[in-house]
Amino acid sequence: MRKNIVAGNWKMNKTLDEGLALAKDVNELLKGTDLKCDVILGTPFIHLASVAKVVDPSKIAISAQNCADKEAGAYTGEVSAAMVKSTGASYVILGHSERRAYYHETPEILKTKVQLALKNGLKVIFCVGEVLEEREQGVYFDVVKAQIESSLFELTADEFAHIVLAYEPVWAIGTGKTATPAQAQEMHAFIRKTVADKYGAEVADNTTILYGGSANPGNAKELFANPDVDGGLIGGASLKPNDFKAVIDAFN
Ligand code: PGA
Repeated sequence: MRKNIVAGNWKMNKTLDEGLALAKDVNELLKGTDLKCDVILGTPFIHLASVAKVVDPSKIAISAQNCADKEAGAYTGEVSAAMVKSTGASYVILGHSERRAYYHETPEILKTKVQLALKNGLKVIFCVGEVLEEREQGVYFDVVKAQIESSLFELTADEFAHIVLAYEPVWAIGTGKTATPAQAQEMHAFIRKTVADKYGAEVADNTTILYGGSANPGNAKELFANPDVDGGLIGGASLKPNDFKAVIDAFN
C-alpha cells in the first residue's frame, strides 16, 4: 500500500546555520513520536550533507529541490543527481512550478532530469499543477495530464514505482489560497486514474500523491482526510518547526 508523506520544501530560504537549526528542531520535535507518515526535508543543495548528519534517518529523509539535466562535466554552477545522492539525500523535487516558470524547465528537460535522478538511485517528487487562468478556463485536467504524460510516461512500471506525485495548483502556492479539500480530491483521483490507465490499478494504488499549495496546520487534516490525498508538499509552513510538526500530526 502507498505511503503517506509530509515533505517540506524550504525553497531558497535559510543560511547553513539557520537550516541546521531548523532541521535539528524538527528532529527534536519528532523524537519519541510514533509517526503515521514519512517525513522529508527538501533543503537547498548546500544544506543537504550537513542536514543528513543531524537528523534521525529512521524518521527523516532528505531531498534536494532540483538536479542537473546532465550527468557530469563542464556545466558551471550545476549539481548532478549523483552529487545529490552522495550527500545522503534520497529524494529530489523536480518540476516545481517555480522551476518551470522562472528557469524555463520544459517537459523535455524534466524528463531527462527524472531519468538521471532514478538512474542515480534517487526517488523523485514530481510536481504538476495548473495556473489560475487554466483553472478558470476549465482545462486543468488536460494540463496536469499533459505534464505527467510528457515527463514521466516513458518510464517503465518499475521505474515509476520511485515517483511521488505532488499536485500543486500554482494559484495556491504561497498565496494563502488553498484548494478546497473537494478540489484536491477531484484532481488527485483524476491523477490516480491517469496513472492507472497507463500502468494499471496496482501501480496507481501504490503511488503517493501529495497536495501542495498553502497547506498549513489549519487545513492539513481536512486535506489529508481525502482518500486520494496521501500527504503534502509544504512550503511556508515547513520553515516553522512547530507548524511543520502540526502538519505531520494531521495524520494522527
Ligand atoms: P506553500 O508552497 O506551502 O508555501 O504554498 C508549497 C510549494 O511550493 O511546494
